[in-house]
Amino acid sequence: NNDSCLPIGWSSSPSRSRLTAIMKFVRFIMKNAALASVPKHIEHFSKFSPSPLSMKQFLDFGSINACEKTSFAFLRQELPVRLSNIMKEINLLPDKLLSTPSVQMVHSWYIQSLMEILEFLDKNPDDHKVLGEFVDALITIRNRHNDVVTTMAQGIIEYKEAFPQDWVTNQNIQYFLDRFYTSRISIRMLINQHTLIFDGTTNPVHPSTIGSIDPQCQVGDVVQDAFHSAKMLCDQYYLHSPDLLLQEMNNKKTKHPVSMVYVPSHLYHMLFELFKNAMRATIETHESSNNLPPIKVLVSLGGEDMSIKVSDRGGGVPFRRIENLFSYMYSTAPAPQIGDHSRTPLAGFGYGLPISRLYARYFQGDLQLFSMEGHGTDAVIFLKALSTDSIERLPVYNKTAVKNYKVSQEADDWCIPSKEPLDLSTYKVAK
Ligand SMILES: Nc1ncnc2c1ncn2[C@@H]1O[C@H](COP(=O)(O)OP(=O)(O)OP(=O)(O)O)[C@@H](O)[C@H]1O
Ligand SMILES: [Mg+2]
Repeated sequence: NNDSCLPIGWSSSPSRSRLTAIMKFVRFIMKNAALASVPKHIEHFSKFSPSPLSMKQFLDFGSINACEKTSFAFLRQELPVRLSNIMKEINLLPDKLLSTPSVQMVHSWYIQSLMEILEFLDKNPDDHKVLGEFVDALITIRNRHNDVVTTMAQGIIEYKEAFPQDWVTNQNIQYFLDRFYTSRISIRMLINQHTLIFDGTTNPVHPSTIGSIDPQCQVGDVVQDAFHSAKMLCDQYYLHSPDLLLQEMNNKKTKHPVSMVYVPSHLYHMLFELFKNAMRATIETHESSNNLPPIKVLVSLGGEDMSIKVSDRGGGVPFRRIENLFSYMYSTAPAPQIGDHSRTPLAGFGYGLPISRLYARYFQGDLQLFSMEGHGTDAVIFLKALSTDSIERLPVYNKTAVKNYKVSQEADDWCIPSKEPLDLSTYKVAK
């Protein structure tokens, strides 16, 4: 009797509404079964190391003979690997942070997205319908994860409000978020490349781009664009803004503007953040003056590095504080509320610098601040000039990573200076 598999009260000759109810029930059971198998999948996929791609490999995936099937086959394995690697680390977060509603929400997005990609593991790459469904799934996943950074920042705020901060937890959170956001940047890069390249259209403004990569990214143009956007924000709030002085040094072909293979949106992101900071500092230190010192930008292309220096005369930052400017815990200020005029639109969570540095490091570059308190700040973005050197820098879950979450507070091996002046009279010479 088939009735034995049905919920109590359901007969084997169901009406239409009963049929839908049964379908719902089956879907519910299947979803729960899928959910129950998630830890097993995470265990399996986290045993693989992510495969870092070079700029050249990204371009090959999108060249004339781009093969959607190959990209599909790569991503349905690589995305679960990258997701699982970082999900293992989410589980190592301090319980008090992991259990905040915001972090729980982010966690559930990761589980949901992992399940959605796993559905494609046993599908046929030769079926066009499957390839189309895969693109749709990737777009859904990308949208689901749009607010990960702000939601995570909210989690940090919830945690900070409820518990006192300690040095070890701060270190753990910094270590985790740097890796977590890098992983997110990389996953979005993979998703963007696939969806942009295989949606069957070309970029009308920049037809030569391959997905989000411009093989001839004009660095000076991106500097101008980012400066212009920051200037508009600055004008809106302060009613004036400093000027830009841009100089390019192309040590390869003199007089040619500097160009490189890069992701213009990443470069724009970093520069926009640096310009907002430089403008705010400039204006706030020259409030009384009508003449604002300009922001100077020097773009320099060498054999190995392509470097961009953004110099302002905004009064600088004490040396002691520089490291903290890159800390997620020290700087997480509540996001500006609508109608709150106490904070400027040029400053938000305090994630501008740390996230920009991750973008720079993602393709083996870096972002550093050199500041002279009382004068101003030089922020330098270092990128790899050669596309063969631009290779993804990805976190991997392994024993070393686990060990890094277990650092304990040990005694300092440098003397701690006493705040009180030393009373030398107590040091009597022994007779
Ligand atoms: N060029 C600069 N001159 C002086 N201080 C700076 C400069 N750049 C950054 N800072 C200091 O570093 C802090 C952190 O900068 P960061 O860009 O990370 O965050 P934010 O500007 O406060 O917020 P947002 O998330 O909107 O960028 C700033 O609040 C500011 O105090
Ligand atoms: Mg900023």
